[in-house]
Amino acid sequence: MKTKAVVFDAYGTLFDVNSAAERCKDKIGTKWEAFANFWRTTQLEYTWLRSLMKRHKNFWEITEDSLDKSMKVFNINNSMKNELLNLYKILSPYPEVRAVLEDLKKRNFKLAVLSNGTPSLLNELVASNKLNNLFDDLFSIEEVKVYKPDSRVYEIPVKKYNIKANEITFLSANTWDVSGGGNFGYDSIWVNRNNLAFDILDFQPKNEISNLTQLLDIV
Ligand code: LAC
Repeated sequence: MKTKAVVFDAYGTLFDVNSAAERCKDKIGTKWEAFANFWRTTQLEYTWLRSLMKRHKNFWEITEDSLDKSMKVFNINNSMKNELLNLYKILSPYPEVRAVLEDLKKRNFKLAVLSNGTPSLLNELVASNKLNNLFDDLFSIEEVKVYKPDSRVYEIPVKKYNIKANEITFLSANTWDVSGGGNFGYDSIWVNRNNLAFDILDFQPKNEISNLTQLLDIV
């Protein structure tokens, strides 16, 4: 039993990033899922590109910029922009999230989010889903103003809790984030919800789970 803190990625891991576009699927039509995936991919590319270019913008601004591009590419009427952006602030959690957090909390682990999201986005996400009492901390990359997978991001909870990297069990559904945290030294677990293939980035997670409930048998 070496895990002292359980740290979760937010977008795609605790919260369903496609749920904003899904709630507008009647208006967007059958392309809603391809559009949602393109928006997410563009958003992540902008985080990596801005970190490499050293031209930081916060995650909310990047979410808007990537939405603008995606709406152009998918020919979606601009009148939907505000609706999509507002829905992104209140994304739905995956169904098992609350029960898993409650179980872990009873077992006295430190529980935190470590995310690209801004502090206000993260606060609103957990508050709108009434999960705010379950986390000790919501760590945002805005503390270091560089995006995942820069190691300065993964250092944030290590410094705050004054523990070793391998005393953190880190969960992400984003393969590159699992690799980033794992290469930093976390005990990284891949939440593989869609039966995908892992990356080849010099890290293989010891554990792969298909939903967060399975974590309870590991930590
Ligand atoms: C986050 C993105 C990577 O929450 O999902 O940091």
